[in-house]
Amino acid sequence: MNICLNDKIFETLSKVVDAEKVEAYVIGGWVRDSILKRDHPDKDIDIVVVGSGIEIARKAAHQFGKGIKVTVFKNFGTAMFRIGEYEIEFVGARKESYTRGSRKPVVENGSLEDDQKRRDFTINALAVSLNSATYGDMLDPFGGIIDLENKIIRTPLDPDKTFSDDPLRMMRAIRFSNQLNFTIESNTFDSIKRNAERIKIVSPERIVTELNKIILCSHPSKGFNLLDKSGLLRIILPALDNLKGVETIEGKAHKDNFHHSIKVLDNICKKTDNLWLRWAALLHDIAKPVTKKYIPETGWSFHGHEYVGSKMIPDIFRELRLPLNEKMKYVQKLVDLHLRPIVLSQDVVTDSAIRRLLFEAGDDIDDLMLLCEADITSKNEAKKTKHLENFKIVRNKLKEIEEKDALRNFQPPVDGSEIIETFGIKPGREVGIIKNTIREAIIEGLIPNEHEAARKLMLEKGIELGLIPVDKDH
Ligand code: CTP
Repeated sequence: MNICLNDKIFETLSKVVDAEKVEAYVIGGWVRDSILKRDHPDKDIDIVVVGSGIEIARKAAHQFGKGIKVTVFKNFGTAMFRIGEYEIEFVGARKESYTRGSRKPVVENGSLEDDQKRRDFTINALAVSLNSATYGDMLDPFGGIIDLENKIIRTPLDPDKTFSDDPLRMMRAIRFSNQLNFTIESNTFDSIKRNAERIKIVSPERIVTELNKIILCSHPSKGFNLLDKSGLLRIILPALDNLKGVETIEGKAHKDNFHHSIKVLDNICKKTDNLWLRWAALLHDIAKPVTKKYIPETGWSFHGHEYVGSKMIPDIFRELRLPLNEKMKYVQKLVDLHLRPIVLSQDVVTDSAIRRLLFEAGDDIDDLMLLCEADITSKNEAKKTKHLENFKIVRNKLKEIEEKDALRNFQPPVDGSEIIETFGIKPGREVGIIKNTIREAIIEGLIPNEHEAARKLMLEKGIELGLIPVDKDH
């Protein structure tokens, strides 16, 4: 098989390796995605050189133009540089043996086949020649092309060896299976089950990179089911694993919250690429196991799970090395508020309840509505339609109130400093009470969201608290 390497970049690289009299190949994701006619998501081109990767990187960079900066990773024997949107990485062909229990490889120079052998999957071990005599020839010693055709993820060597060399590959197998819609060959999958515990030696940063890639798939439930079946989920995300299972008391069963959560995640993926909204969907019911109670008259209750869940998020994010910044706060907020529109839609939708929700959700109100709609996973079509209809009413009402009251990013019409100045007081309890009274009055619809009305209420409340307005003229 011959694949087209008609890009200018490859022609230039070919000249360089011919001149240097070394064998070199394009390998890995670039080749795989070219054959699959898949967009190259990160524009990474991996080149393997039978010789010194670092030296060829330097020569090639020079050929592309002076002043191109080559980054060298001496410890790994690799070097890279950027050309436009492309990132070209060079590595010398290696024969590697790893010391068990660590990722520190003992590196020896090797042939192309030695290098292909030590790669993760047959579909990632395909190499295409850059040398002019064999330009474009495909070298496929492990049946990668057939596996691409049959949509199979398989390791080139005994999977126990490939996974023990780098246990992250177990997650990569699941991630590729999810992204490409491939099947993990059974021998390879059995090995993941056997070796799952070894994921513990991999850094959380590398694990979460793969987890995020799974969450960004169009149907991440497939990846999560594989993480579950392989035994990896229990180790990398135990809180999600705890959602599994159904309990029945007096003939009443609750739903399996793991399967529900990953269905909600699939649903939200149809509506958004926002990774953090997807995380919120995955974790929205995370506190169901700890809040679960059986109440004989009414059945299963998970009272307060939205609040307890939002409080569980920081620990989960910390463990996974996810950011502990406003992104985490956004996830917490959505988890905390995820029941509100449902409760609203079941009741008579009052203006004040809508105002309160707008006030609390702020700019995230649209994302919250998407989450709530995704949360309807009932198989009962009539029930589903009814819920979605109710959400439409909530959405219309939100629009109506928003246009009238502009509460989305509420800025108090009378702020703290105006209260302090008016009564000549120091910041303290009274200021808080007055601000709260004004906010509540706006939410309850007792006064409009305007300065004049708010100032009048401030004066009334201040006097009620025993404060005296400062007479500015004296
Ligand atoms: N590789 C490997 N084991 C790993 C990571 C990478 O054997 N744990 C090899 C594979 O041959 C892979 C290549 O290095 O194709 C490049 O790795 P990477 O850029 O992480 O993956 P891609 O295959 O390019 O795919 P993606 O960009 O989707 O991650």
